[in-house]
Amino acid sequence: MGLAERHKKLERNITLLAVGTFITVAIGGIVEIAPLFWIDNTIEEVEGMRPYTPLEQAGRDIYVREGCYSCHSQMVRPFRDEVERYGHYSLAAESMYDHPFQWGSKRTGPDLARVGGRYSDEWHVQHLQDPQSVVPESIMPQYGFLAETDLEMGNPGAHLSALRRVGVPYTDEDIGQAMADLILQADPDADGDVEDFIQRYPKAQVRDFDGDPDRITEMDALVAYLQMLGTLVDFDSAAAQEELAQEKGR
Ligand code: HEC
Repeated sequence: MGLAERHKKLERNITLLAVGTFITVAIGGIVEIAPLFWIDNTIEEVEGMRPYTPLEQAGRDIYVREGCYSCHSQMVRPFRDEVERYGHYSLAAESMYDHPFQWGSKRTGPDLARVGGRYSDEWHVQHLQDPQSVVPESIMPQYGFLAETDLEMGNPGAHLSALRRVGVPYTDEDIGQAMADLILQADPDADGDVEDFIQRYPKAQVRDFDGDPDRITEMDALVAYLQMLGTLVDFDSAAAQEELAQEKGR
């Protein structure tokens, strides 16, 4: 029986074809998946990355709820035009605590991976309330209601412990303190130890974000999140490390 004959047999027998297909796909799957069980981490860690504070996390949830990702990506690709516009290209480690990640594929608006610190809080509040008042040609919708809506805090500790289950390294203290931390970050006059908070969340920005110190609104949380984006990793030192690694490789 020739090869073509044997192949005909395989093609015409549905069971044989299904078994053959399964075996072929299984081999491919094992080759791709199995090594992941033996390496500890698929992401190269980078200094400065830390889990998000409870307030930033709450802002992130609003970002996801409002579908900001449908117009904004959070990933600077390693191309010259992107790097010149947005800054250092994104590293995998910068989204290692993102559940779900916000890389996105749609850019109706600009990439936001490094928007933190680029504008003042006032600018963000104004822009979210009425984008056309600061960028007349903008087609971004208005989100003024965020400033009118008190942040529903729920149980931020439970939120953090759920994230810990999927690998975000929150400590017991972070979880126990979550509610106090959330209030402290948006209201520096609240009771609490700001130094301890910053020690646990380096570079966390502590202030009233929405211009209304009397309440904590969804606007506070969202602006706190936006102002953190891209500010955690110190690229001067990361670049220095990269250079060092290259030196060693020579
Ligand atoms: C319908 C698409 C659309 C949606 C949805 C949208 N945006 Fe935008 N966004 C834009 C466009 C277009 C721009 C550029 C013009 C401007 O600055 O308003 C922009 C600009 C921005 C900027 C300024 C970025 C920069 O580097 O100048 C920020 C910050 C921003 N958006 C945040 C958000 C947030 C947060 C949400 C969700 C609450 C959101 N956007 C939802 C379209 C959108």
